Amino acid sequence: MQPRAVPAPPGIELWLVEGIATESERSLLQGLLSEDERARASAFKVEDARASFIVSRGLLRTILGDALACDPASIRLQEGEHGKPSLGGMHAQSGIEFNVAHSGDVFLYAVSRGRAVGVDVERKKEGMAVEAIAQRYFAPEEARRLLEQAPSEQRVPNFYRCWTRKEAYLKAKGTGLTTKLDEFEVTFLPDEPPAMLRTEIVGEDPHDWQVFDVAVPEGYVAALVARR
Ligand SMILES: CC(C)(COP(=O)(O)OP(=O)(O)OC[C@H]1O[C@@H](n2cnc3c(N)ncnc32)[C@H](O)[C@@H]1OP(=O)(O)O)[C@@H](O)C(=O)NCCC(=O)NCCS
Repeated sequence: MQPRAVPAPPGIELWLVEGIATESERSLLQGLLSEDERARASAFKVEDARASFIVSRGLLRTILGDALACDPASIRLQEGEHGKPSLGGMHAQSGIEFNVAHSGDVFLYAVSRGRAVGVDVERKKEGMAVEAIAQRYFAPEEARRLLEQAPSEQRVPNFYRCWTRKEAYLKAKGTGLTTKLDEFEVTFLPDEPPAMLRTEIVGEDPHDWQVFDVAVPEGYVAALVARR
């Protein structure tokens, strides 16, 4: 499971890993985990979720170990108020920021120096009630544009573009889904450049954030959001 670099904006690295780890790969990656992470892995009741957490954290440590030129197992990770991992211990002041997302067999990592980053990747699922989800959770103007401004066959890709950009933004901020999805708007139609459009979130300015599409395997959609 070798991370492969995918095109990224200047100053940010994007790493993608696709596939299912063999047992020996998984046990190597597990060997990099901290005691806390191993305890967290053991607490998963569903085997797939446990395996995915081990692989995700092991790969994250490998990528951060390269960025910091240190032993991946020695890296200390800490979590923000809403669970966003960041570097702790002797690397807390390194200026390196990162974020992780996984869906299906794809793991995506963003690493930057000094810019808050968030990533999201989603495997497109057939038969999702995208109209109902958009109407319930997105900003009203986003739901309206999703339903009215594009042919219905574009609705599913448009929905996933909107969803991944919104979630990547909330992961860059670190609040995740504790922030409501209808409090801000992003672009998502195919002919619109990726961008934040508007926000009602106190203290937030949409111009402070850049939004990027990420090239991922067929069947997936991904986005990166970075603070300017
Ligand atoms: C962040 C969040 C949107 C991720 O959703 P998801 O679709 O299940 O998962 P993704 O694949 O996109 O991302 C998972 C990774 O995001 C990172 N992450 C976790 N919380 C995060 C946060 N608040 N902000 C940014 N990144 C976060 C972790 O690295 C995690 O990977 P891990 O399982 O290896 O630790 C969701 O977990 C969330 O909203 N969390 C905040 C609210 C919450 O539940 N907090 C409880 C913990 S205090």
